[in-house]
Order: sequence, then C-alpha cells, then structure tokens
Amino acid sequence: MIAQNAHYNEKLAGVYEQMYPIGFDTTAAVEFLDGMLEPGGKVLELGIGTGRIALPLAERGHEVHGVDGSEAMLARLREKDPHGAITAALGDFTQPLTDFDESYDLVTLVLNTFFVAVSKEAQVACLRNARERLAPGGRFVLEAFDPSPYHVMEKPDFSMRYLNESTVMLDTLTVDKTQQLMVATHTIVDGGPPSTTHHVLRYAFPLEIDLLAELAGLRLVERWSGWYQEPYSVTSPRHVSVYERTD
Ligand SMILES: C[S@@+](CC[C@H](N)C(=O)[O-])C[C@H]1O[C@@H](n2cnc3c(N)ncnc32)[C@H](O)[C@@H]1O
Repeated sequence: MIAQNAHYNEKLAGVYEQMYPIGFDTTAAVEFLDGMLEPGGKVLELGIGTGRIALPLAERGHEVHGVDGSEAMLARLREKDPHGAITAALGDFTQPLTDFDESYDLVTLVLNTFFVAVSKEAQVACLRNARERLAPGGRFVLEAFDPSPYHVMEKPDFSMRYLNESTVMLDTLTVDKTQQLMVATHTIVDGGPPSTTHHVLRYAFPLEIDLLAELAGLRLVERWSGWYQEPYSVTSPRHVSVYERTD
C-alpha cells in the first residue's frame, strides 16, 4: 500500500455532489441533526466539504462552523454561501484545531470521513478534537460504513459511475486487511485528460471506534443503522453513532 491520501482537488471538488447526490438521505441527516439541537444551536462539522449538511443546518437557524483540508472544497462551499452564513477554515482535524476555541452543542463527522485518518493514533487525535470542542451535554455524531464486506475482499474491485451526460468516474478499490487499509482510486473521464486521485482509508469496526472514542474521553449513547433511526443490526451496512463526553 504505497498510495498517499490525496486531498479533494479542483476536479474532484467539481463533481463531488454528483458522486454523492443530494437526496432523501441528506434531508434525513439534516432532520436527525437538527433534532439534537435547541434553536440556534452551535455546530462544528469536521470535514465540512461543500456544505452538503452544513448549509441546510445553517438555514434552520443554527450557527455552523467547519474545518476542511481541501481549499477546493471550501471554495465550492463559499460559492454556495455568498452571505457567509457558515464559518469555515482550512485545517486538518487530526491536528489541534487552533482556529476553533469555542465549544459546540454538536460536533459531526459524517459520510465515512473519520476513515481518512489513516492510523489509529490519527483517529484518536480526531476523536480528541471532537471531545475537546463539545460543550457539556453536547453530542458528537459519526456516520460510517460497516467494513465487514470490504475486510473479506480478496481481489481488487472495479466499478464505474455516471456523473453527468459527459462525465463518468472509474473507481478501483483495493483492501489490505492486515492494516485495515483501503485504497480507492477515482478517475474522472470527461473528454479532457483523465484525472486520477488516490484515497486511503483506515477503516474501523463500530466496536473498535467505540474503544478509540473511550480513549478520547467519549462514550456511546446510541447507534442507528441510518439517519431514519433504523435499529442497528447484523445486516446494517453502516451506522450513525452518537457519543457524549465521559466527564
Ligand atoms: C466525503 S467528504 C464529506 C464532506 C461533507 N462532510 C459531506 O457530508 O458532504 C470528506 C471531506 O473531508 C475532508 N478531509 C479529508 N481529510 C481531512 C482532514 N484530515 N482534515 C480536514 N478535512 C479533511 C475532504 O477534503 C472532504 O471535503
């Protein structure tokens, strides 16, 4: 596994919302998160991206802050937020968050973004950041896939997705289960020179995330199979987990 984690570059940022179309799931996520907040609640999103979740939460009257490691993603967010409803900064959520010294009612880390921290140390550092920014009584919400099907993958996987009438994306996925690492490549084919990015994810199983969270001073409060609060079960492909501070 030699690939380095790539940030979302300009080209990938440009098709990001076609990779993850805004649909009922985003709406359900926003409903779920809004339901955890009092009116005018304070929210910090780690890996805020283009504001898929953050903008609708701000529209509901919450004060939303965010950090992201990609200037290209933040540029898209600013385009969608011309009045600056959201406060977002360039930064790495596995490093001390010096731009954010306030505390928040809700800290979020959604859409598998936790797994971009590619070692257990980096994952604990990320969880510590979440813990340190939580106000007393606040909640931390993490959404991630269940890695079970990937953990047993023996051969690289290849797939293709439609992005729009003139653009497709070629995806490859390789798993090293000894390190719990996945390397995904995304190649955008849009008529111009193809552009490939590599993403490394360090996947973790839900109970392992709970242990890492405990090391960071967080404890699990509830776990769902999705944003509609479906019961979490052996067949759940992912989980929405809610944590609180242990002190
Ligand atoms: C899958 S996207 C999710 C974006 C947004 N949360 C959403 O739900 O649409 C992951 C985001 O995390 C950002 N990211 C990746 N590693 C990061 C890091 N170490 N620190 C801050 N942001 C990071 C990426 O630039 C990208 O915008």
